[in-house]
Amino acid sequence: MVCLGNICRSPLAEGILKSKVDSTKVEVDSAGTGGWHAGELPDPRSIAVANKNGLDITYQRARKFSPYDFELYDHIYVMDNSNFRDVTQLAQSEEEKAKVQLILDEIFPGENVDVPDPYYGGENGFDSVYDMLEQACEQIAARL
Ligand code: 4NP
Repeated sequence: MVCLGNICRSPLAEGILKSKVDSTKVEVDSAGTGGWHAGELPDPRSIAVANKNGLDITYQRARKFSPYDFELYDHIYVMDNSNFRDVTQLAQSEEEKAKVQLILDEIFPGENVDVPDPYYGGENGFDSVYDMLEQACEQIAARL
């Protein structure tokens, strides 16, 4: 799960998908295309919306996406089109590039929809981000 800062959207996506899969079979992680927040906890507003929905994401620490992630993971879900460009630019083969997908393609196939960045918005931006990610992760988990 990849976003820009790895403190708002992708930590939620990581927590939600983890809650829906068997951790002995599926490894879920998240990262940001930027490293400014590396080592930090998720944003307090993400922690709060996760809590409200019964998830604890405070074990997470932000990290920067690495090209090595292409080797470690089979699927790389990005939150928006900007993340898509940043991550696909790091791919070293068509096979690696093909692992990258907009997460909302899961619920709006082919519509190129972004998970809006809630960082500069208010609290309820986080609720709607949570709902979108919940629906997308449900689809992903069902397929996995
Ligand atoms: P995220 O949100 O990509 O969903 O984690 C952001 C967090 C931090 C910044 C931008 C977006 N920032 O500019 O620091």
